[in-house]
Amino acid sequence: MSKQDDHFFNVFSAVLGILVAITLFLFVLAKFFGGGMTRQHVASDPILQAEVAERVRGFGQLAIAGQDNSALSIAPPPGAAAAATTAAALPANGEEVYRAVCTVCHGPGIAGAPKSGDRAAWAPRIAQGNEILYKHSIEGFQGSAGVMPARGGRADLTDELVKEAVDYMVAQAR
Ligand code: HEC
Repeated sequence: MSKQDDHFFNVFSAVLGILVAITLFLFVLAKFFGGGMTRQHVASDPILQAEVAERVRGFGQLAIAGQDNSALSIAPPPGAAAAATTAAALPANGEEVYRAVCTVCHGPGIAGAPKSGDRAAWAPRIAQGNEILYKHSIEGFQGSAGVMPARGGRADLTDELVKEAVDYMVAQAR
């Protein structure tokens, strides 16, 4: 190899090395700034959280004799009128609405939802007054902690039922 070839080879290797180093540096930099943000965003998405809760929930459901099992979707007995089934599908009062709908997020307190029974989390919200709580629950609400979906995501609930569920949760946190 001539001296000139030697020189070319050295310079070429150095340039290649520098380019590889720059690539690795940019990759690590992007991971450092972007990686955390993506994870945070995904972890705080209430819809995703609810979907995950739905997927990991136990396979079987327990119906207890003498208690209200309306939250379980049990096939109606043969011959039951279709109309009666539809009517029965709607929870009857605030507590039932809470158990069927709101507890998904407010039970464990996921995705920024104030946990039911957590006085510290509820005190400032209760202080807003019932009308605001009703409005936020019926129309939905984007707060600093997360997204409260309109009617907890159950569009068929009446205003009255949602209000009763709010009253129920507020009573738990007093
Ligand atoms: C998908 C999850 C989810 C479900 C289901 C859900 N909530 Fe919420 N809720 C939230 C989150 C998150 C917040 C907090 C929003 C914030 O302050 O950033 C919240 C806040 C609230 C608040 C406080 C609003 C305020 O002004 O501070 C009330 C009241 C409430 N929910 C009632 C209900 C009722 C009633 C139901 C059932 C019908 C329900 N929620 C179902 C996620 C949920």
